[in-house]
Parts: sequence; structure tokens; C-alpha cells
Amino acid sequence: TRSYRLAVLPGEGIGPEVVAATLQVLQRAGEQCGFAIAPQPALIGPPAFAETGQFLPDETLRCCEQSDGILFGAVSKGGLLELRRHFDLFINLRPVCPSPHLFHKSPLRSEVVQGVDLLFVRELASGIYFGESGRAEDAEGVYGFHTMRYGDAEMHRIARVALEWAQTRRRHLTVAHKENALPCLPWSARVEDVASDFPDVTVEPMLVDNLAMQLVLRPCDFDVVLAGNLFGDILSDLGGAIAGSIGMLGSASLNASGFGLYEPIHGTAPDIAGKGIANPMGAIASATLMLEQWGETKGAQQIREAQERILAQGYRTADLSPVPPEIFVTTDELVQLFFAELEKGG
Ligand code: IPM
Ligand code: MN
Repeated sequence: TRSYRLAVLPGEGIGPEVVAATLQVLQRAGEQCGFAIAPQPALIGPPAFAETGQFLPDETLRCCEQSDGILFGAVSKGGLLELRRHFDLFINLRPVCPSPHLFHKSPLRSEVVQGVDLLFVRELASGIYFGESGRAEDAEGVYGFHTMRYGDAEMHRIARVALEWAQTRRRHLTVAHKENALPCLPWSARVEDVASDFPDVTVEPMLVDNLAMQLVLRPCDFDVVLAGNLFGDILSDLGGAIAGSIGMLGSASLNASGFGLYEPIHGTAPDIAGKGIANPMGAIASATLMLEQWGETKGAQQIREAQERILAQGYRTADLSPVPPEIFVTTDELVQLFFAELEKGG
């Protein structure tokens, strides 16, 4: 049996609920596919602060360092950015591949959503999230500032990753930029520098505002979308609307060594936290990305197929607003459905 140490950082809000559900599904898939997960729970965010006075306690960092991966739930603030930076997780993969069973859940018409298969590649360890910032005062009054800064090398390294992904897919890379207003961040040119190594990939630079519109109008026409940290954050939430619920989407945040943190794209959802009705499919999708990263492709595939069969039977968590004959299920009921389907699949 292959065995993995997994740092488990539930965070707060619905984070602990979706993470607990995901661990159960992972462990059951492992039993069936010949791997075992040893979960190492650790604190992050406000719960960590309450206990230790730190949003990202040293103990949590040590725990993550000694693990094969990090399963992350959600935090409203504190710790996550530091964690990404600590492990240099500059690659954020956010696939949006809506299930045919959920096409009708999107506000976009089914014929627009049908065939969408997007991969957002978001730069995650630099840009405006980490640039010089502060609040200060001058003659005109108090002001605040955040600096969007990218080294050419930082743009090159994420561009290479996006091009590599494009090459394994439909060989089309869209590059989000805002060079008409922010000409000192020439994303298009930096991607072109690297693109010569990928002659079969078509690179299409697009102003990010226009791209937001085009993603709504014709999402099928896009394959891999590369964006800096802030633009990538915003565009990937748009992916949630395309998929019918942001609760469906997962992500992988990786460094150059392939070490990763896996988290759903959604946040803490305080309005539904503690009710046992959160959708764990985003966290489960993140876990399947983790299994693929580890080479556990059979486990990943079994979980995906189980999920499709569950959706095909009409089971829906609250975020997907089930309408009869669809069947409302709680988080725990969904886990039981995964168990039943994994049994069949194995
Ligand atoms: C995300 C989240 C985070 C981000 C927040 C919680 C800082 O929105 O992972 O998409 O902006 O990166
Ligand atoms: Mn976000």
C-alpha cells in the first residue's frame, strides 16, 4: 500500500465540513485503489489565531513541510497568502469543466455552457497580493496603496507552465493582460518570449476586461487562460457561474517541485456554515487533482466517475438549488452516495 502524509487544514466556516467529507471519500477511494492517507490536522486562520495568537502557526508550517500535500478548506482571512508564499506555490490550476448534468444550473444557456473545458492558470505567489503596500498620509490626506509588481522571471515561469498545459490540451493559450492601462506589465511579450519553445500552441493576448465578457459570451472557445494573481482570482469566480455553482470547483496550487496545496475555489460561506449542507464537491475535485499529482490516477478517475453518477441520479446540495425530481442532499448524505458509487466502481 502506498502511503501519503496529508496536512489537513480545515480553516473555518464550511471549510471543516467539506474537508471532513473529502477525507472520507479519499480514504474510501484509497482502500479501493491501494493507497492510504495519514491525515495530519493543523490550524490556520482565525481558529489558529484564537488558539496560538498566530494565523499561520509555526507548528502548522512544520506539519505541512513534513507532508506529501496540503488539503485546505477555507479561511476568511489570515494565513493562506503566507502559506502560498512559504512554499512558493506560484502555480494555481483552476479547471472549469461543467458536468452535463448541471448545464441547466448555469445562468448561461445550456448551448453556451455545453462543451466548456477551461483551465485557468493563475500566478499565485506574486503580483498585487504581495507588492509593497500600506496606509499613509500626505498633504492630500490619508491614503492606501498596493503595488502590482511582476519580475520578468516570474512571468516567464508561469507562462511556461501555462504553455505546457496548453500543449497537452487543445493548444490554445489566452493571456489576460491590461497593457492599455498598465504597460509596465507586458504579459503578452513575456509569454511570447517563452512561446517559441511551443510552436504548436496558439497564443492569444486579451485585455482582461474584454476577456471577462468573452468568457460569458463564448466560454467554449477558450482552452487555457493565463492570468496574474488578481485577474486570475476574479476570472476564476466567473468560472463558478459557468459551472452552475462555485461549490463545484477545485484547485491545485503547486510549486516547481510539484508539492501542492489543494483547496476548493469557494470561501467560508458563513451563511450556511454549521448546517451540514455545504457542497463538498469543490474540495473533492481538489483532492482528485492531488491524486493525479501523486500519480494515483485510478483513484482520481474513480472519484470523478462516482461524482458523475451521483449527479446523473439527480442528487444536489443546496447551492445547486435542487428542483424536483432532483433530490436535495446534505453533505453527509453525499458522502454516503460516494461510498456506494465507489463500491460499484472498484
Ligand atoms: C481564492 C481566495 C483568496 C484569494 C482569498 C481568500 C485571499 O479568494 O483562493 O480565490 O484571493 O486568493
Ligand atoms: Mn477567489
